[in-house]
Amino acid sequence: MKIFTTKNEVSQYLHQLKSAGKTVGFVPTMGALHQGHLSLLAQAQQQASVVVCSIFVNPTQFNDPKDLDKYPRPIEADIQKLEQAGCDVLFNPAVTEMYADNENWHLDIGELEHLLEGKFRPGHYQGVMQVVHKLFDIVKPDLAFFGQKDYQQVMVISRMISLLGLPVKLVMCPIEREADGLAMSSRNIHLTADDRLHSLVLSKALIQAKTGFDGGEALTNIQQQAADLISHEPGTQLEYFEIADGETLREANSSSNSIVALVAARVGNTRLIDNVIIR
Ligand code: PAJ
Repeated sequence: MKIFTTKNEVSQYLHQLKSAGKTVGFVPTMGALHQGHLSLLAQAQQQASVVVCSIFVNPTQFNDPKDLDKYPRPIEADIQKLEQAGCDVLFNPAVTEMYADNENWHLDIGELEHLLEGKFRPGHYQGVMQVVHKLFDIVKPDLAFFGQKDYQQVMVISRMISLLGLPVKLVMCPIEREADGLAMSSRNIHLTADDRLHSLVLSKALIQAKTGFDGGEALTNIQQQAADLISHEPGTQLEYFEIADGETLREANSSSNSIVALVAARVGNTRLIDNVIIR
């Protein structure tokens, strides 16, 4: 695997490959890699001839400085995982390589930015778009792979791509879970043994919602039952459980083409999110 830390070197290298007719598949990450990240890589390998992964803990998308500080950064182990998975290129820049001082960035994507995650993490999606836009500019991928785990992030990036007319195809990949249902996340290592048990209530509530929906139950009942289940779990603080239109992320209704149940909760000191597509 080729490892680059500067924009110029990685973009020159990839430019040569693209000129030789190779297609570039890109998997942006913040590292602390797990099977979820590796599943995106596997998808990229199937659909592109060269696979690029980036590892960059992007400061502009963290609204809590403590969360940024404690974000895991096991770079040696990550490199080993990428080597083993057959990744072709790793881009692992420093913050100073990606950002000039006092850089401002804003793209108006309407209310999508302020719903759900946006309500609890103001500014988060501007930071995500800022870094993904920069990374797209450097890597110039034909295809970019994002996880359904961050459903709203996929919608936000998709909106950015269409508003700016970026020449990249976005591919959404399914959520990888632990055997007991917990969605894999770099943040799961912060869960204590007790938290780990309590965390199962999220996937349980989502499965219950899907079962309720399949059984024809009303959306408001499904939402209420799921919220109750999570609120009664010890050590767990519900932030939201919403049943949303899969395209707009506004409240779903009977004419919604796709419907997603999305949840965010604090389990102990760790904030977790998860979702399931119920239609
Ligand atoms: P990060 O949280 O490292 O996630 C990188 C990618 O892996 C995202 O597309 C995310 O949705 C996907 N992913 C995470 N957990 C997953 C799981 N259990 N199953 C499948 N895919 C999973 O998301 C980010 O980083 C950042 O916001 C980033 C896009 C890199 C911009 O900084």
